Amino acid sequence: MKFYLGTNWKMHRTNTEAVHYITEFLPLLREQDLSRHYLFVIPSFTSLQLVRNAVTEAAVPLKVGAQNVHWEDGVEATGEISVRILADIPVDLVEIGHSERRQKFGETDLEVNRKARAVLGHGLSALICVGENGAEKEKGIGSQALERQVRSGLDCIPPGDLSRVMLAYEPTWAIGVVGKPADPTYVQEKHAAIRETLNNMYSVEIAAEVPLLYGGSVNRLNFRSYAEIAHVDGLFVGRAAWNPQSFLELIGMSRAFV
Ligand code: PGA
Repeated sequence: MKFYLGTNWKMHRTNTEAVHYITEFLPLLREQDLSRHYLFVIPSFTSLQLVRNAVTEAAVPLKVGAQNVHWEDGVEATGEISVRILADIPVDLVEIGHSERRQKFGETDLEVNRKARAVLGHGLSALICVGENGAEKEKGIGSQALERQVRSGLDCIPPGDLSRVMLAYEPTWAIGVVGKPADPTYVQEKHAAIRETLNNMYSVEIAAEVPLLYGGSVNRLNFRSYAEIAHVDGLFVGRAAWNPQSFLELIGMSRAFV
């Protein structure tokens, strides 16, 4: 399997800033052998087209993703973006169920599933985020919460679509400036549990097609400790890749794992 590595810009880049980032980053990528990587960047909706155009023009293997989507199309839903709109850009993948969306915008397991089905139905890839929150961890029900999110997120998704699904395990309490980096042993346990859930839902062979990414305060200092874990197929990075040079450094570190 390739090494998966990507960053979500969240609500952090204007179009001007996106141009600066991409203008510096794409030439750096051209010098890299990325044949064993699946690299991605997830800008704001407003910067998707310009990032897409720049990536296509530079002909570098960088996937472009959207941070969210609505599962319906052509309905009265002011302020929402449908898969059809995203597919026309076109984006390669859509991130679904990030913990900030679940926590700040009340996104439910059912909505995550609807979005995943819509994205896969249009032939795009879905990056589904799962992760227990601090209270669930404290109560010792983190694994149950994870299993529930994986099972409901993938409900009714046929085995044939699984090759376009990526799962990111991101414990809510480990994300962002107030996040506390997770212990690698803990991450290993949870990734093994997710893999087991997938094996039980599908066959072992089909489940093996789904890359499991880890995310939450990943940085240059702890990168290796997460990347070397069995069942960690890649890393999903926020802050530590918001600078092109830092992202490039992480790509360099990931070479030991491809
Ligand atoms: P962080 O964000 O790396 O800045 O903690 C991770 C994420 O939200 O995916």
